[in-house]
Amino acid sequence: MVTTVQLSPDADGLDRAAALLSEGRLVAFPTETVYGLGADARSDSAVAGIFEAKGRPRFNPLIVHLPDLAAVSEYCEMPPEARDLAQAFWPGPLTLVLPLRPGAAISPLVTAGLDTLAVRLPDHPLARDLLTRFGGPVAAPSANPSGRVSPTSAAHVMAGLEGRISAVLDGGPTGVGVESTIVGFEGGPCLLRAGGLPAEAIEQCLGAPLGAGGGGISAPGQLASHYAPEGSMRLEATERREGEVLLGFGHVEADLNLSPSGDLTEAAANLFACLHRLNEMQAERIAVSPVPEHGLGRAINDRLRRAAAPR
Ligand code: TXA
Ligand code: MG
Repeated sequence: MVTTVQLSPDADGLDRAAALLSEGRLVAFPTETVYGLGADARSDSAVAGIFEAKGRPRFNPLIVHLPDLAAVSEYCEMPPEARDLAQAFWPGPLTLVLPLRPGAAISPLVTAGLDTLAVRLPDHPLARDLLTRFGGPVAAPSANPSGRVSPTSAAHVMAGLEGRISAVLDGGPTGVGVESTIVGFEGGPCLLRAGGLPAEAIEQCLGAPLGAGGGGISAPGQLASHYAPEGSMRLEATERREGEVLLGFGHVEADLNLSPSGDLTEAAANLFACLHRLNEMQAERIAVSPVPEHGLGRAINDRLRRAAAPR
């Protein structure tokens, strides 16, 4: 057990967070998508600490967070399409899986031995400030116990990881609410995970459709059952059955509603907080309204299907 300190979103909190990272400790911090659990990506022992704290299977590689494009070029090669996407969408909720430069100073635990590295420039003032102060690559998965709902507030982080990490930098609720979209470039640009940047926007920038990585959305280690709330979930529910709690979307009478007006951006921002809330309510049987499968709806439905998967 370690004491987990809550750091304030000011210069003092940021300095302490950066100092802890330099000592090889674990610090949760806000990004625009969800809170990340950060560690120095160059240090085997620091990165091993992430897997330990989350109870995460070791084969699942991590995303490295960097402050700017110069830092990305230090670690990765950038195909022309990657440059275009970086220019259009960074900083932002987009992760690019790029060829790792030989000899790059990144712990092999980060890549799980792959010859590619997942990188992103987060669009959150505290994350960017922390990365600049720290001055190195920060590996960060979502700051939740493995398989559980991702955190969109410092309170969610504390509920899942208090006593297992050194600190959480409290930046209030996150804006986007679902994790970044992941794009890989093996055999042309392909979608590895739907996320906070709609695939349609990426395709428009590329002027071509994205391939599906390995016949389906498949970043390695994406488990079928994930984001699991404690209750069972029934998706595409057009009515509430006896004994069910309804998680609604749009104009329905519901116990909780992702977005009463049917707005997908609002629904993404509310998704994980609603799943946390359902746990607090000890909901045993959860019905979920249909969510349209376009724009951010793809990321929302992906997370809902994983949450509903048999475990
Ligand atoms: O928004 C986000 O992406 C958040 C914030 C904290 O940045 N992070 C996040 O990390 O969602 P995590 O660990 O929960 O998800 C990382 C995903 C995993 O599905 C992993 O398999 C994939 O990225 N990934 C990492 N490195 C990869 C690689 N070299 N090739 C393919 N997929 C990779
Ligand atoms: Mg995660």
